[in-house]
Amino acid sequence: MSPETVVLIRQSWSQVMPRRKQVCGDFYRRLFATYPELRPLFQDDLARQTDLFVTMVNTVVSALDNPGPVLPLLETLGARHAAYGVSDDDYDKFEAVLLDTLAASLGETFTPTVRAAWSEVYGRLADRMRRGAANRCVHRR
Ligand code: HEM
Repeated sequence: MSPETVVLIRQSWSQVMPRRKQVCGDFYRRLFATYPELRPLFQDDLARQTDLFVTMVNTVVSALDNPGPVLPLLETLGARHAAYGVSDDDYDKFEAVLLDTLAASLGETFTPTVRAAWSEVYGRLADRMRRGAANRCVHRR
């Protein structure tokens, strides 16, 4: 990942952080409005889930220039997601809604370049989680 991408992600994430509760609320509203079939995978109360999601994105954003130590963490996260009932395709639904939510929150600072940077980071994150999901039976042996 280029240093420019890392800078763009860190800048835009720092704009989101002070408003994270509102942005995450908007994200889940959009996700469940667009893909109602995903709602039953989650518990009724999304507050704890939201905090954990933000903490995980913080970890990933901090580690962008040295991702090695975080990769095993993402694989076990992906394995847990498979156990929650999350499929490979669900990651694409999540991405589309996440990018739209960031665009709505960040307005004109969410330029096509910033969007592409988030798409790259999300793609890597999701690939690693999917890999963890695919390998989870192997880990259990
Ligand atoms: C790729 C980015 C994603 C990240 C960083 C992420 C992060 C997290 C974290 C940190 C948790 C807390 C529980 C745990 O650590 O196991 C969680 C739970 C969960 N996530 Fe994700 N997630 C992602 C993608 C998805 C996708 C694509 C779905 C599909 C709809 C999803 C559905 C869920 C569900 C159903 C739970 C359990 C919630 C509950 O117990 O109510 N996540 N996620």
